[in-house]
Amino acid sequence: MPSCFLFGGIVLVAHETSCYVLPALVDRLGDGKDQVRENSQALILRCMEQTASPMYVWERLLPGFKHKNFRSREGVCLCLSATLNMYGAQPLSLSKLVPHLCSLTGDQNPQVREASITTLVDVYRHVGERVRADVGKRGLPAARLQTIFARFDEALNSGNMALSPSHDRSFEDDDSVDGNRSSSAQAAFKVPKVPKKPAESSTARRPSATGGKLVSKESAGAVDEDDFIKAFTDVPTVQIYSTRDLEDNLNKIREVCSDDKHDWDQRASALKKIRSLLVAGAANYDCFYQHLRLLDGAFKLSAKDLRSQVVREACITVAHLSLVLGNKFDHGAEAIVPVLFNLIPNCAKVMATSGVSAIRIIIRHTHVPRLIPLITSNCTSKSVAVRRRCYDFLDLLLQEWQTHSLERHTAVLVESIKKGIRDADSEARVEARKAYWGLRNHFPAEADALYNSLESSYQRTLQSYLKSSGSVASLPQSDRSSSSSQESLNASDKTDGTRSDNGRVRTKQVLRR
Ligand SMILES: *[C@@H]1O[C@H](CO)[C@@H](O)[C@H](O)[C@H]1NC(C)=O
Ligand SMILES: *[C@@H]1O[C@H](CO)[C@@H](O)[C@H](O)[C@H]1NC(C)=O
Ligand SMILES: *[C@@H]1O[C@H](CO)[C@@H](O)[C@H](O)[C@H]1NC(C)=O
Repeated sequence: MPSCFLFGGIVLVAHETSCYVLPALVDRLGDGKDQVRENSQALILRCMEQTASPMYVWERLLPGFKHKNFRSREGVCLCLSATLNMYGAQPLSLSKLVPHLCSLTGDQNPQVREASITTLVDVYRHVGERVRADVGKRGLPAARLQTIFARFDEALNSGNMALSPSHDRSFEDDDSVDGNRSSSAQAAFKVPKVPKKPAESSTARRPSATGGKLVSKESAGAVDEDDFIKAFTDVPTVQIYSTRDLEDNLNKIREVCSDDKHDWDQRASALKKIRSLLVAGAANYDCFYQHLRLLDGAFKLSAKDLRSQVVREACITVAHLSLVLGNKFDHGAEAIVPVLFNLIPNCAKVMATSGVSAIRIIIRHTHVPRLIPLITSNCTSKSVAVRRRCYDFLDLLLQEWQTHSLERHTAVLVESIKKGIRDADSEARVEARKAYWGLRNHFPAEADALYNSLESSYQRTLQSYLKSSGSVASLPQSDRSSSSSQESLNASDKTDGTRSDNGRVRTKQVLRR
């Protein structure tokens, strides 16, 4: 049944013969007017309905991936997304199309690059892990590959996949060290499910992706400390039958996690197994601590993995170790924290927030002074995200730790917070100002000296932070800093009340004096 389209002012009759105009339609996909582009895409999709198969049409669209007009190249990508959303992956030979998309990820035009990646993500959503393997073989530069894989992970973790579970190995359980359980790596960690959005297929209606910007859910896959704490014990139950049994398990875990040639889901399960062993009381065995040292390399490797599931399991597991072992996790914490920092600038939320949550839990439970320089060294990172987090970490650390754990590093704490108060980024400054009050609790004289060294505009901002936090305490005037110690004590007492959530150690601090 032919149907009529108003197309560029011409009424076209769409039936088999309209496919002869496919090259012209590809040109029209690059038109300057949204309306023309939309109609072209609609007509192409209609062609698929009318002819033998969508792939027949796609064979004829292939030259469009190399069209000289960037909008046409972008339009062909968007049209492929629209095809997938309409017909699924079944009728398409995607292995013929994916190489074109991969080439376009390096296109000179940013909109085309973005559209090609978005479409690759759509292909991945429909086909699953085979796409990752295929894209991985196309010789793309590592950084670009990492970006693409992060986007795949984002789709996976946001519950936005469009495939049936049986099509994708990543959704099946692998009989690994975990035993033959039906809960896969994903199940261990419940990322809030984002309902499948038909709106994702809006590419079908809007061939002009606004400026090529990805508008996907910003917080997709983001995790926090509470998620971690739930995941600590959401692991298979195991029993430790003997020291020998524990050692065998730990050796096997180390072997699996130290070699990234093992399947990612085996490595994720092996990391989870460490938590199972912790729950079963592994920390009561002396040999556990020797083995833990041997696992440093495995944790670092896992936290650098390209697969977000492996990274997440590594982050959860080191955080769990910190919680259970406290300061006995000093060595492991020192080894892993720098790697966790490198996750923070990652564009995949699940990676970045896993790193942050792990560091925060480690700061809460493993109070080893050697962590302080690791944190302060990143206070001058080029990444704004890292700097903001660094001051947040310092704030937490100053709330949670006893003064004696901080004393050796007073100078560097003061210096870092001072830099933060003057940071170019306003959010980083906010975090640094919070940390300032923590510093003042422990080291009033040093904090006052820092205050007095600041330009008056920064002093005023610090003051106004204090007012907005509800405290009436006042900061020293430059001319009476000698009395500041006494004031600090009272000030800290009051600040305490405003932060009762974290006031545990702070209160001790006040009482101790
Ligand atoms: C492993 O799990 C599969 C599927 O759940 C099941 O068919 C198989 O019998 C199980 N094997 C063992 C050894 O439990
Ligand atoms: C953190 O600091 C270390 C040491 O200065 C540096 O090597 C690393 O690149 C920094 N990490 C980030 C994410 O800025
Ligand atoms: C501060 O505390 C000291 C003793 O704890 C007390 O003598 C003093 O009056 C307090 N000052 C203010 C301003 O509350």
